[in-house]
Amino acid sequence: MSDNNQPTSRGNWGTRLGFVLAATGSAIGLGNIWKFPYITGEYGGGAFVIVYLFCVLLVGLPLMIGELMIGRRTQKNPVGAFKALHHEKSPWQITGWLGIASGFLILSFYSVVAGWAIAYIFKAMAGFSGTTEAIQSQFGALVTSPSASIMWHTIFMGLTIAIVIGGVKNGIERWSKILMPMLFALLLGLMIYGLAFTNGGMQALSFLFSPDFSKLSAEGVLSALGHAFFTLSLGMGAMLTYGSYMKRETNLMKDAITVSFLDTLIALMAGVAIFSMVFHYGLEIASGPGLIFKTLPVLFAQTGRWISVPFFVLLSFAALTSSISLLEVVVSYFVDERKWSRIKATLLLGGMIYLTGILSAMASWKVMFRGSDQAWLDVFDFITTNYMLPIGGLMTCLFVAWVMVDKERAEEFGSKGLLYKGLLFILRFVAPIILIAVFLHGLQLLPFMEY
Ligand code: TRP
Repeated sequence: MSDNNQPTSRGNWGTRLGFVLAATGSAIGLGNIWKFPYITGEYGGGAFVIVYLFCVLLVGLPLMIGELMIGRRTQKNPVGAFKALHHEKSPWQITGWLGIASGFLILSFYSVVAGWAIAYIFKAMAGFSGTTEAIQSQFGALVTSPSASIMWHTIFMGLTIAIVIGGVKNGIERWSKILMPMLFALLLGLMIYGLAFTNGGMQALSFLFSPDFSKLSAEGVLSALGHAFFTLSLGMGAMLTYGSYMKRETNLMKDAITVSFLDTLIALMAGVAIFSMVFHYGLEIASGPGLIFKTLPVLFAQTGRWISVPFFVLLSFAALTSSISLLEVVVSYFVDERKWSRIKATLLLGGMIYLTGILSAMASWKVMFRGSDQAWLDVFDFITTNYMLPIGGLMTCLFVAWVMVDKERAEEFGSKGLLYKGLLFILRFVAPIILIAVFLHGLQLLPFMEY
C-alpha cells in the first residue's frame, strides 16, 4: 500500500492545474463535438439531452470521484489498483481488464474519426465552396476512400503514440494549457454566431432543450447513459489512471466538478452551434457520424479559412488529448504490471490498436450486427459505449461503495462530513440502481414497461 511518499518513477502532474487540464483534455474530445450532436440528432433531441444530463450528474460525477479515489490511493494502473485495494487474486481486477479492452477498442475507431478531423484541416485550407451538396459530398468521398482514411488514421495514431512515449507530464500538460482555452473561445464564437446571426438559433435551442419523451426510444436512453460515460472518459479506468498521477493535497470533488462542468458546457455549446446551422440551412438532422463534417463546412464556405482552419486544428487537438488518455490506460498496465519499458509497451500496443483501427477505416467492410449490415466503426462504438463502459462503471461503483475501506475512501475524499455521506449514498444505491435500470430498459427487459 502506498502512502504520501509517492513513487516518483511513474511521474506526477506538475501542478494542480496540470491535472485539471489533462483530465479536461481527456474528457473533451470527439465525444463532445462530433458524437454528442450527431447522436442527439439521431435520438430526437431534448429528451435525450435531459436523460444524458441526469446521467452526468447522478452517475458520471460521483463515479469520476470514485475513480479518482482509487487511482490516487493506489498510484496504480486499473488492474493493479483493484488488486492493491483488495488482494492479489481479487476478482475485481476483471474491472481493470475490461477497461483495458475498452480503451483498446475505443481508440481503434476514435483514431479513424480523428483522422477525418485532420483531413478536414487540409480541406479547410483549400477552402470550401460550391453548392451545399458539393460541400457535403466531400465527406462521403473521404470515408469511402480506403487509402485516404487509412493515411489519416496512420498520422493520428502516430501522433498519439509519440506523445505517450514522451510520458504524461511532458506532452499532455504543456499543450493543453494553450489549446484548450482556444477551443473554448472558438466554440463560444460559433455558438454566438449561430444564436444571433442565423435563423436557426431558436429552433436549435428548442430542439436541444424542450423534451418530448415520446420520441425517446429504449435504445436512446441506454445511449444517453453510455454517452455520459464516453464523454467523461469514465468506466474504463482512464480517470483512475490520471488520478494515479495526482498529488494528495488536491480536492477530488472540486476537480471532478470542474472537469464534468467544462465537458458538459462544451458539448452543449457545440450542440447549439451545430444545430443552428442545421436549421438555418435546412440540413438533415439525423445524418449520423458525418453530421459535423457535413454541416459546419457549409457555414465555413461563407466565413472563410480564418475560422475553418482553426476549428479543425483545435478539433484534432481535442481528439489528441483524449486519445492519449485511452492509450495511457493500456500502456500503464503493461509498464506497471508486466514491467515492459514505456517505449516497448506504447509501440506494441499502439501498433495493435492501429491495425484494429483499419477495420473501422474501411467503410465498405460490414458486419452483421443487431439485424443489419453495419460498419465496424459503428459496431465498435455501440458495443464499447453502450455495454462495456456502463458495465465497467457499475463494477467500479460497486467496488468503491461496498468493497473499499471506509477509512481509505474518506481520506481520499478529504472529509467524513455530509458531502461524503451523500456521495457514498449515491455510489451505494442511486448510481447502481440507475445503471441497472437503464441497462434492463435498453435490453427491453424492465418488467413494468411495455415494449
Ligand atoms: N472522453 C473523450 C471524448 O469525449 C473520449 C475518451 C477519452 C474516452 N478517454 C476515454 C472515452 C476513456 C471513454 C473512456 O472524446
